[in-house]
Amino acid sequence: MQDQYGREIDYVRISITDRCNLRCTYCMPEEGIENYTSHTEILSYEEILRLVRCLAKLGIGKIKLTGGEPLVRLGCCDLVRQLKAIDGIEQVTITTNGVLLEELAGGLIEAGIDGINVSLDTVERDIFQQITRRDYFDSVMAGIEQVKALRYQNLKINCVPIAQFNKKELVKLAAQARDYPMAVRFIELMPIGLAQAYTAVSKEEIMDMLTEAFGPMTPYAGTLGNGPAEYYSLPDFKGHIGFIGAIHNKFCGQCNRIRLTSNGFLKLCLNQNKGGDLLPLIRGNASDEELTEVMRNIIYQKPAAHHFYEDDQQDTDSRQMYQVGG
Ligand code: 5AD
Ligand code: SF4
Repeated sequence: MQDQYGREIDYVRISITDRCNLRCTYCMPEEGIENYTSHTEILSYEEILRLVRCLAKLGIGKIKLTGGEPLVRLGCCDLVRQLKAIDGIEQVTITTNGVLLEELAGGLIEAGIDGINVSLDTVERDIFQQITRRDYFDSVMAGIEQVKALRYQNLKINCVPIAQFNKKELVKLAAQARDYPMAVRFIELMPIGLAQAYTAVSKEEIMDMLTEAFGPMTPYAGTLGNGPAEYYSLPDFKGHIGFIGAIHNKFCGQCNRIRLTSNGFLKLCLNQNKGGDLLPLIRGNASDEELTEVMRNIIYQKPAAHHFYEDDQQDTDSRQMYQVGG
Protein backbone atom coordinates (compact mmCIF):
# COMPACT_ATOMS: atom_id res chain seq x y z
CA MET A 1 0.00 0.00 0.00
CA GLN A 2 0.99 3.64 -0.33
CA ASP A 3 1.38 6.04 2.55
CA GLN A 4 0.35 9.70 2.58
CA TYR A 5 3.55 10.64 0.72
CA GLY A 6 3.05 8.04 -2.00
CA ARG A 7 5.77 5.73 -0.74
CA GLU A 8 5.09 2.06 -1.44
CA ILE A 9 5.14 0.26 1.92
CA ASP A 10 5.83 -3.44 1.39
CA TYR A 11 8.18 -4.44 4.22
CA VAL A 12 7.64 -5.06 7.92
CA ARG A 13 10.30 -5.70 10.53
CA ILE A 14 8.85 -7.82 13.32
CA SER A 15 10.60 -7.89 16.68
CA ILE A 16 9.57 -11.24 18.16
CA THR A 17 11.28 -10.65 21.52
CA ASP A 18 13.06 -7.84 23.35
CA ARG A 19 15.31 -10.33 25.14
CA CYS A 20 18.86 -10.95 24.10
CA ASN A 21 21.75 -13.26 24.97
CA LEU A 22 24.32 -10.49 24.42
CA ARG A 23 24.72 -7.12 26.16
CA CYS A 24 26.25 -4.91 23.48
CA THR A 25 27.43 -1.80 25.28
CA TYR A 26 25.78 0.55 22.80
CA CYS A 27 22.46 -1.23 23.07
CA MET A 28 21.83 -2.71 26.51
CA PRO A 29 23.05 -2.03 30.04
CA GLU A 30 25.33 -4.58 31.67
CA GLU A 31 22.69 -5.82 34.09
CA GLY A 32 20.05 -6.26 31.39
CA ILE A 33 16.65 -4.65 31.44
CA GLU A 34 14.16 -4.48 34.28
CA ASN A 35 11.05 -4.02 32.25
CA TYR A 36 11.27 -6.70 29.59
CA THR A 37 7.94 -7.24 27.92
CA SER A 38 6.06 -9.67 30.13
CA HIS A 39 5.02 -13.04 28.78
CA THR A 40 1.38 -11.97 28.88
CA GLU A 41 2.00 -8.84 26.86
CA ILE A 42 4.16 -10.41 24.21
CA LEU A 43 2.41 -11.27 20.94
CA SER A 44 1.94 -15.01 20.58
CA TYR A 45 2.98 -16.60 17.30
CA GLU A 46 -0.73 -17.02 16.53
CA GLU A 47 -1.22 -13.28 16.98
CA ILE A 48 1.81 -12.46 14.84
CA LEU A 49 0.54 -14.77 12.09
CA ARG A 50 -2.86 -13.14 12.22
CA LEU A 51 -1.41 -9.63 11.94
CA VAL A 52 0.81 -10.74 9.07
CA ARG A 53 -2.19 -12.18 7.19
CA CYS A 54 -3.81 -8.74 7.49
CA LEU A 55 -0.61 -6.94 6.46
CA ALA A 56 -0.27 -9.23 3.44
CA LYS A 57 -3.71 -8.02 2.33
CA LEU A 58 -2.30 -4.49 2.37
CA GLY A 59 0.52 -5.57 0.06
CA ILE A 60 3.13 -5.92 2.77
CA GLY A 61 4.77 -9.13 1.61
CA LYS A 62 8.31 -8.91 2.95
CA ILE A 63 9.16 -9.71 6.53
CA LYS A 64 12.30 -9.39 8.60
CA LEU A 65 12.35 -11.12 11.99
CA THR A 66 14.36 -9.23 14.59
CA GLY A 67 14.65 -8.91 18.36
CA GLY A 68 16.31 -8.43 20.86
CA GLU A 69 17.69 -11.65 19.54
CA PRO A 70 15.01 -13.54 17.59
CA LEU A 71 16.63 -16.96 17.92
CA VAL A 72 16.23 -16.96 21.73
CA ARG A 73 12.48 -17.33 21.26
CA LEU A 74 11.51 -21.00 21.10
CA GLY A 75 9.94 -22.25 17.90
CA CYS A 76 11.23 -19.50 15.63
CA CYS A 77 11.92 -21.93 12.76
CA ASP A 78 8.29 -23.01 12.85
CA LEU A 79 7.24 -19.39 12.81
CA VAL A 80 9.31 -18.89 9.64
CA ARG A 81 7.65 -21.91 8.04
CA GLN A 82 4.17 -20.64 8.92
CA LEU A 83 4.88 -17.10 7.77
CA LYS A 84 6.17 -18.43 4.46
CA ALA A 85 2.90 -20.30 3.94
CA ILE A 86 0.77 -17.14 4.11
CA ASP A 87 -0.72 -15.97 0.83
CA GLY A 88 1.01 -12.81 -0.31
CA ILE A 89 4.16 -13.30 1.79
CA GLU A 90 7.04 -13.31 -0.66
CA GLN A 91 10.00 -13.17 1.60
CA VAL A 92 10.93 -13.91 5.21
CA THR A 93 14.42 -12.99 6.40
CA ILE A 94 16.06 -12.75 9.82
CA THR A 95 18.63 -10.60 11.60
CA THR A 96 20.46 -12.49 14.33
CA ASN A 97 23.52 -12.02 16.52
CA GLY A 98 24.56 -15.55 15.53
CA VAL A 99 25.03 -16.98 19.03
CA LEU A 100 22.49 -19.76 18.43
CA LEU A 101 22.96 -19.99 14.69
CA GLU A 102 25.11 -23.11 14.53
CA GLU A 103 22.25 -25.07 16.03
CA LEU A 104 19.43 -23.33 14.17
CA ALA A 105 20.79 -22.53 10.69
CA GLY A 106 19.68 -25.89 9.27
CA GLY A 107 16.16 -25.46 10.64
CA LEU A 108 15.86 -21.92 9.34
CA ILE A 109 17.01 -22.93 5.88
CA GLU A 110 14.69 -25.93 5.87
CA ALA A 111 11.83 -23.64 6.86
CA GLY A 112 12.56 -21.59 3.75
CA ILE A 113 14.27 -18.52 5.17
CA ASP A 114 15.09 -16.09 2.34
CA GLY A 115 18.01 -14.31 3.97
CA ILE A 116 20.16 -14.53 7.08
CA ASN A 117 21.81 -11.36 8.39
CA VAL A 118 24.35 -11.85 11.14
CA SER A 119 25.32 -8.89 13.29
CA LEU A 120 29.06 -9.05 13.84
CA ASP A 121 31.01 -5.99 14.91
CA THR A 122 34.41 -7.61 15.28
CA VAL A 123 36.50 -10.61 14.29
CA GLU A 124 38.68 -10.42 17.43
CA ARG A 125 37.64 -12.45 20.43
CA ASP A 126 38.71 -9.91 23.07
CA ILE A 127 37.03 -7.00 21.29
CA PHE A 128 33.90 -9.11 20.88
CA GLN A 129 33.95 -9.59 24.64
CA GLN A 130 34.41 -5.85 25.18
CA ILE A 131 31.52 -4.92 22.89
CA THR A 132 29.03 -7.64 23.80
CA ARG A 133 30.15 -8.33 27.41
CA ARG A 134 29.79 -12.02 26.62
CA ASP A 135 32.22 -14.75 25.60
CA TYR A 136 30.26 -16.12 22.64
CA PHE A 137 32.66 -15.20 19.88
CA ASP A 138 33.33 -18.83 18.94
CA SER A 139 29.62 -19.62 18.85
CA VAL A 140 28.94 -16.74 16.45
CA MET A 141 31.81 -17.70 14.16
CA ALA A 142 30.67 -21.34 14.23
CA GLY A 143 27.19 -20.13 13.32
CA ILE A 144 28.50 -18.24 10.31
CA GLU A 145 30.60 -21.26 9.29
CA GLN A 146 27.56 -23.48 9.54
CA VAL A 147 25.57 -21.22 7.20
CA LYS A 148 28.46 -21.31 4.73
CA ALA A 149 28.88 -25.07 5.07
CA LEU A 150 25.22 -25.44 4.08
CA ARG A 151 26.16 -23.43 0.98
CA TYR A 152 23.51 -20.88 1.82
CA GLN A 153 23.73 -17.99 -0.60
CA ASN A 154 21.86 -15.13 1.01
CA LEU A 155 24.14 -14.41 3.95
CA LYS A 156 24.98 -10.90 5.07
CA ILE A 157 27.21 -9.65 7.85
CA ASN A 158 26.19 -6.38 9.49
CA CYS A 159 28.81 -4.40 11.36
CA VAL A 160 28.34 -1.14 13.25
CA PRO A 161 31.70 0.69 13.06
CA ILE A 162 32.42 2.51 16.32
CA ALA A 163 35.50 4.65 16.89
CA GLN A 164 35.89 3.39 20.48
CA PHE A 165 35.82 -0.31 19.58
CA ASN A 166 36.38 -1.76 16.16
CA LYS A 167 37.74 0.90 13.83
CA LYS A 168 41.12 -0.81 13.47
CA GLU A 169 39.76 -4.12 12.27
CA LEU A 170 37.17 -3.09 9.71
CA VAL A 171 39.51 -4.22 6.94
CA LYS A 172 39.71 -7.71 8.44
CA LEU A 173 35.96 -7.76 8.85
CA ALA A 174 35.42 -6.74 5.23
CA ALA A 175 37.82 -9.45 4.05
CA GLN A 176 35.14 -12.02 4.89
CA ALA A 177 33.44 -11.07 1.61
CA ARG A 178 36.55 -11.95 -0.38
CA ASP A 179 36.25 -15.73 -0.29
CA TYR A 180 32.50 -16.21 0.13
CA PRO A 181 29.78 -14.58 -1.98
CA MET A 182 28.17 -12.61 0.82
CA ALA A 183 27.71 -8.96 1.65
CA VAL A 184 29.57 -7.34 4.51
CA ARG A 185 27.71 -4.17 5.40
CA PHE A 186 28.69 -1.24 7.54
CA ILE A 187 25.79 0.35 9.36
CA GLU A 188 26.09 3.86 10.67
CA LEU A 189 25.62 4.07 14.42
CA MET A 190 22.41 5.90 15.21
CA PRO A 191 22.16 8.07 18.33
CA ILE A 192 19.54 5.99 20.11
CA GLY A 193 19.72 5.34 23.85
CA LEU A 194 23.12 4.10 25.05
CA ALA A 195 24.58 4.49 21.57
CA GLN A 196 24.68 8.25 22.12
CA ALA A 197 27.87 7.76 24.14
CA TYR A 198 29.77 6.39 21.13
CA THR A 199 31.15 7.79 17.90
CA ALA A 200 30.32 6.49 14.44
CA VAL A 201 33.07 6.00 11.85
CA SER A 202 32.29 7.74 8.57
CA LYS A 203 31.75 5.91 5.30
CA GLU A 204 34.57 7.93 3.72
CA GLU A 205 37.04 6.79 6.34
CA ILE A 206 36.04 3.16 5.88
CA MET A 207 36.24 3.42 2.10
CA ASP A 208 39.74 4.87 2.36
CA MET A 209 40.86 1.98 4.55
CA LEU A 210 39.32 -0.63 2.27
CA THR A 211 40.69 0.95 -0.89
CA GLU A 212 44.16 1.01 0.59
CA ALA A 213 43.92 -2.64 1.58
CA PHE A 214 42.11 -4.15 -1.40
CA GLY A 215 42.15 -1.71 -4.31
CA PRO A 216 39.52 0.54 -5.89
CA MET A 217 35.87 0.17 -4.87
CA THR A 218 33.40 0.36 -7.72
CA PRO A 219 29.68 0.98 -7.17
CA TYR A 220 27.65 -2.18 -7.68
CA ALA A 221 24.39 -1.61 -9.52
CA GLY A 222 22.65 -4.92 -8.77
CA THR A 223 20.16 -5.31 -5.94
CA LEU A 224 21.02 -7.39 -2.91
CA GLY A 225 18.09 -6.71 -0.58
CA ASN A 226 15.08 -4.57 0.27
CA GLY A 227 16.90 -1.87 2.05
CA PRO A 228 18.79 1.32 1.56
CA ALA A 229 22.30 -0.16 1.40
CA GLU A 230 24.73 1.10 -1.25
CA TYR A 231 26.93 -1.70 -2.51
CA TYR A 232 30.45 -1.78 -3.90
CA SER A 233 32.63 -4.38 -5.61
CA LEU A 234 36.29 -4.88 -4.83
CA PRO A 235 38.93 -6.59 -6.99
CA ASP A 236 38.97 -10.38 -6.41
CA PHE A 237 36.04 -10.28 -3.99
CA LYS A 238 33.33 -12.91 -4.45
CA GLY A 239 30.98 -10.85 -2.29
CA HIS A 240 30.23 -7.16 -1.87
CA ILE A 241 30.66 -4.37 0.62
CA GLY A 242 27.61 -2.35 1.63
CA PHE A 243 27.00 0.88 3.51
CA ILE A 244 23.85 1.95 5.29
CA GLY A 245 23.95 5.49 6.55
CA ALA A 246 20.62 6.44 8.05
CA ILE A 247 21.93 9.76 9.31
CA HIS A 248 24.38 10.98 6.70
CA ASN A 249 22.61 9.44 3.76
CA LYS A 250 19.06 10.06 4.82
CA PHE A 251 16.89 7.73 2.75
CA CYS A 252 13.51 8.49 4.33
CA GLY A 253 12.07 9.54 0.95
CA GLN A 254 12.41 5.96 -0.28
CA CYS A 255 11.48 4.29 3.00
CA ASN A 256 9.39 1.17 2.38
CA ARG A 257 9.09 -0.17 5.91
CA ILE A 258 7.14 -0.31 9.12
CA ARG A 259 7.96 -2.09 12.38
CA LEU A 260 6.01 -4.25 14.80
CA THR A 261 7.28 -4.48 18.38
CA SER A 262 6.99 -7.67 20.40
CA ASN A 263 4.13 -6.16 22.43
CA GLY A 264 2.11 -5.21 19.39
CA PHE A 265 2.98 -1.59 18.67
CA LEU A 266 2.93 -0.82 14.95
CA LYS A 267 5.77 1.66 14.62
CA LEU A 268 6.16 3.95 11.65
CA CYS A 269 9.65 5.42 11.92
CA LEU A 270 12.85 4.41 13.65
CA ASN A 271 13.25 7.27 16.09
CA GLN A 272 9.68 8.49 16.36
CA ASN A 273 6.87 7.32 18.57
CA LYS A 274 4.23 7.58 15.84
CA GLY A 275 2.14 4.50 15.22
CA GLY A 276 -0.53 2.52 17.00
CA ASP A 277 -0.95 -0.06 19.74
CA LEU A 278 -2.61 -3.13 18.21
CA LEU A 279 -2.65 -5.22 21.39
CA PRO A 280 -6.08 -4.08 22.67
CA LEU A 281 -7.58 -4.67 19.24
CA ILE A 282 -6.08 -8.06 18.69
CA ARG A 283 -7.06 -9.19 22.19
CA GLY A 284 -10.49 -7.60 21.91
CA ASN A 285 -13.02 -8.81 19.43
CA ALA A 286 -11.94 -6.95 16.32
CA SER A 287 -12.46 -8.88 13.10
CA ASP A 288 -9.61 -9.39 10.62
CA GLU A 289 -11.25 -6.80 8.37
CA GLU A 290 -11.29 -4.24 11.20
CA LEU A 291 -7.69 -4.97 12.11
CA THR A 292 -6.65 -4.56 8.49
CA GLU A 293 -8.44 -1.22 8.20
CA VAL A 294 -6.94 0.09 11.43
CA MET A 295 -3.46 -0.85 10.22
CA ARG A 296 -4.12 0.73 6.83
CA ASN A 297 -5.00 4.01 8.56
CA ILE A 298 -1.97 3.89 10.84
CA ILE A 299 0.46 3.07 8.02
CA TYR A 300 -0.99 5.81 5.81
CA GLN A 301 0.20 8.36 8.41
CA LYS A 302 3.85 7.31 8.23
CA PRO A 303 5.88 10.47 8.86
CA ALA A 304 7.98 11.99 6.09
CA ALA A 305 11.36 11.55 7.78
CA HIS A 306 13.21 10.84 10.99
CA HIS A 307 14.22 13.70 13.25
CA PHE A 308 17.65 12.67 14.48
CA TYR A 309 19.65 15.76 15.48
CA GLU A 310 16.78 18.16 14.92
CA ASP A 311 15.44 20.71 17.39
CA ASP A 312 11.97 19.28 17.22
CA GLN A 313 12.43 16.25 19.46
CA GLN A 314 8.89 15.98 20.79
CA ASP A 315 8.12 12.84 18.78
CA THR A 316 11.30 11.05 19.78
CA ASP A 317 10.53 7.50 20.80
CA SER A 318 11.58 6.27 24.22
CA ARG A 319 11.81 2.72 22.90
CA GLN A 320 15.34 1.37 22.78
CA MET A 321 17.03 -0.53 19.97
CA TYR A 322 16.48 -3.91 21.63
CA GLN A 323 12.75 -3.16 21.61
CA VAL A 324 12.70 -2.09 17.99
CA GLY A 325 15.11 -4.50 16.34
CA GLY A 326 16.96 -2.07 14.08
N1 5AD B 1 22.74 2.24 15.61
C1 5AD B 1 22.90 1.39 14.56
N2 5AD B 1 22.76 0.06 14.67
C2 5AD B 1 22.46 -0.44 15.88
N3 5AD B 1 22.25 -1.70 16.29
C3 5AD B 1 21.94 -1.69 17.60
N4 5AD B 1 21.96 -0.42 18.07
C4 5AD B 1 22.28 0.38 17.01
C5 5AD B 1 22.42 1.77 16.83
N5 5AD B 1 22.26 2.64 17.84
C6 5AD B 1 22.37 -2.84 15.39
C7 5AD B 1 23.01 -4.07 15.96
C8 5AD B 1 22.53 -5.11 15.02
C9 5AD B 1 21.21 -4.59 14.50
C10 5AD B 1 20.03 -5.39 14.90
O1 5AD B 1 21.10 -3.26 15.00
O2 5AD B 1 24.41 -3.99 15.96
O3 5AD B 1 23.40 -5.23 13.92
FE1 SF4 C 1 21.50 -7.94 21.61
FE2 SF4 C 1 21.56 -6.80 19.22
FE3 SF4 C 1 21.41 -5.29 21.37
FE4 SF4 C 1 23.69 -6.61 20.87
S1 SF4 C 1 22.78 -4.98 19.60
S2 SF4 C 1 22.60 -6.47 22.86
S3 SF4 C 1 22.91 -8.44 19.93
S4 SF4 C 1 19.83 -6.69 20.71
